[in-house]
Amino acid sequence: MKALVLAGGKGTRLRPLTHTAAKQLIPVANRPILFYVMDQVARLGIADVGVIISPETGLAIRDALAPNPWGCHFTFIPQAEPLGLAHAVKVAREFLGSDAFLMYLGDNLVGENLQGYVNEFEQKNPDAMILLKEVDNPRMFGVAEIDDGGRITRLIEKPDNPQSKLALVGIYLFSNEIHAAIDAISPSARGELEITDAIQQLVERGKTVQSSCLQSWWLDTGKKDDLLDANRLVLDEWVQHDFRGSVDSESRVVGRVVLEHGAQIIRSEVHGPAVIGKGSRIENARVGPYTSIGLDCSIISTSLENCVIMDGVCLEGIEKLKSSILGRHATVRRITEDKQVIRLMIGDDAEVCV
Ligand code: G1P
Repeated sequence: MKALVLAGGKGTRLRPLTHTAAKQLIPVANRPILFYVMDQVARLGIADVGVIISPETGLAIRDALAPNPWGCHFTFIPQAEPLGLAHAVKVAREFLGSDAFLMYLGDNLVGENLQGYVNEFEQKNPDAMILLKEVDNPRMFGVAEIDDGGRITRLIEKPDNPQSKLALVGIYLFSNEIHAAIDAISPSARGELEITDAIQQLVERGKTVQSSCLQSWWLDTGKKDDLLDANRLVLDEWVQHDFRGSVDSESRVVGRVVLEHGAQIIRSEVHGPAVIGKGSRIENARVGPYTSIGLDCSIISTSLENCVIMDGVCLEGIEKLKSSILGRHATVRRITEDKQVIRLMIGDDAEVCV
């Protein structure tokens, strides 16, 4: 079995961060989202991995994957324009050949090992296997309607009037039948070749499409709050206490905290789960739970919680920063006496005075 990981797209819902970076490389718990995807793929023992990249961010994706701790063989496949998930399969046709494959959207995170689903796919040999998860906002996703026997009756992309709350998770297993189905569909109203429509084609052609409900959490990290949720869940579930930096005698560290080499905590309080990257300096500060701080940040006289702070960020005098995402080398300074809670989403190199 091969894997096809989709790491193209424009990430419009995460602007301004995605003006300068690929959405799949935005970090949660100080690791790019894409790395968690590759962890999953490698854990399944899939070595042959196609990675769909866009002209804008393809190089950054290649560079990020280059150290390749997973030992996978990557084939980078350019998709000139974001014309849909099924279009991505089309451009990967040569790479995929006639093999079955796992397709994984590079901004989707799930909290469980996928081996059970892959085993089931390999045993039962359907033409497609989809993973479903009940959501509160099905209009944002591909949606599956199923009958009383659990069989799929209809799949529909971002329906106006959803008849079900079961969303399609961005992880799919396909036999080579998917290619003919893709050849038979036309672009949707948003101008994309939808993989949901291609799977619906399989249903209409009487092919076997199987579904399983995902047991764990699932996040499509394409928006700010989902990204913060992902950061929270990953910190909660996967971060272990690990101290390699320094903490002075006037500081207090509570709970599970990763403090990387050269990170310093001076006259501060840190409440886990949290990660603080190499070379970062936390001084007279309070770092609350669910916060990730990247490399070489400077957090001075500031209190923050539930934040993703990327490399090189400087924060000074910010009384209460909550639920914020700050891009690389952003600077936030306090210039007023106002002590209200601040929530921000700012891009790389931004300078903000509050
Ligand atoms: C895509 C799919 C949708 C699926 C979702 C999962 O949506 O089109 O069917 O439910 O991924 O993340 P998009 O991210 O393109 O809006």
